[in-house]
Amino acid sequence: MRIVMIGTGYVGLVTGTCFADSGNDVTCVDIDQRKVDMLNRGEVPIYEPGLAEMVQRNSKAGRLTFTTDLAEPVSAAKCVFIAVGTPMSDTGAADLTYVMKAAEAMAPHLKPDAVVVVKSTVPVGTNRKVLNLLREKTGREVHVCSNPEFLKEGCAIDDFTKPDRVVVGVTSPEVGEVMRELYQPFLRTDHPFLVMGLESAEMTKYVANCMLATKISFINEMANVCELVGADINDVRRGIGHDQRIGFSFLFPGVGYGGSCFPKDVRAMEHVAAEKGFTTELLKSVDAVNDRQKNVLFNKLKKHFGDLQGKKIAVWGLAFKPRTDDIREAPSLVLIRSLLEVGAKVFAHDPVAMENVKKEFGNRVTFCSHHYEALDGADALAIVTEWNEYRTPDFGYIKHKLKQPVIFDGRNLYDPAKMAREGFTYNGIGLTAKPTV
Ligand code: UDX
Repeated sequence: MRIVMIGTGYVGLVTGTCFADSGNDVTCVDIDQRKVDMLNRGEVPIYEPGLAEMVQRNSKAGRLTFTTDLAEPVSAAKCVFIAVGTPMSDTGAADLTYVMKAAEAMAPHLKPDAVVVVKSTVPVGTNRKVLNLLREKTGREVHVCSNPEFLKEGCAIDDFTKPDRVVVGVTSPEVGEVMRELYQPFLRTDHPFLVMGLESAEMTKYVANCMLATKISFINEMANVCELVGADINDVRRGIGHDQRIGFSFLFPGVGYGGSCFPKDVRAMEHVAAEKGFTTELLKSVDAVNDRQKNVLFNKLKKHFGDLQGKKIAVWGLAFKPRTDDIREAPSLVLIRSLLEVGAKVFAHDPVAMENVKKEFGNRVTFCSHHYEALDGADALAIVTEWNEYRTPDFGYIKHKLKQPVIFDGRNLYDPAKMAREGFTYNGIGLTAKPTV
């Protein structure tokens, strides 16, 4: 199938490349000439495991091309995807300018039977707005499809090629069939293709992310209570998870969720409801609990040291989660900002995200090329992101390097009993000294 992907951001690039890999002829369009040139050279501007190799392989096979010119590829395409950004505006609403501009630009070139697929995460009602705009601009009926993505950064290719489900919102059954054909290589009996109305598909994406964000804020709140009453969140997690109605996934306490999706989508859902005169009390709290949780490590450090002025703090992990260099809404930024404000010195390490954090803090933070290097003479170690390479360190060496053996672990990477035996003062999230049972 001939496909055009408008927008070569994270979602557009992964989606376009995976469709090329299953044999489609894909043209990715972007307004950024520099980015298009880079991609045509096989250089991928984002960090996503396996993506660069896949882009190079499909470009070489002639199935994947990048251009700034929209007219020609659109005029030959069966499916035109819109995968441009929908940044959060000042009011918390999603900014739809780029989506609408893309629709307007493609209108004069669309084939009569083409399907316009909205991949960007857009508030309920947007697909219908796109449909109306295209009807008006073309003067005829147009096929529109809402096709939300559920990709996790760091696992995007796997998530795309083995989706738990594919959701499409359609204006007619025929559109559903075109989309089914496109996704067929990735479907399994237990990975279904779900067809529904435009609004339901739009809503599915937001509800999924709001549910996941709610799980995280819930477990973080419970972890904080555990600390106060002398309980251990890891025991409690196991205690509740065996109830199949609850389960184990996405219930790890930490330093709060970040990234480009959860914070934005929770606020966008609040906004959509507010526009209809409805207040989403639960989501307001999910958001507030998350903001508070991003301060949890700083508050623990402050409680431990009293005055943090002049203290040297080693920070391991800057990306909002492992296997990405994305620092959008990352809890590390909140911690570093607070530490700098009170005059602490920050020595930071991250395997891939340091360049991005440098843009934010410049030389106010010392960036270390090895995580052990950050520990030299530090008063404490704070762990923010659970990169694999931090999971089994040489504790003897850490102790030797730190001024005092104090660890503030925002991801509960280590066993508190072992840490006590090793002679560390170990502060996790929702952990407590194990009672003798
Ligand atoms: C998320 C959704 O999972 C994905 O389906 C959607 O398409 C985009 O948003 P992503 O933002 O890549 O994906 O990150 P994800 O792996 O879901 O993690 C989000 C945040 O939650 C991270 O900050 C992570 O550290 C945090 N998290 C996750 C927890 O604190 N505890 C958990 O148990 C799980």
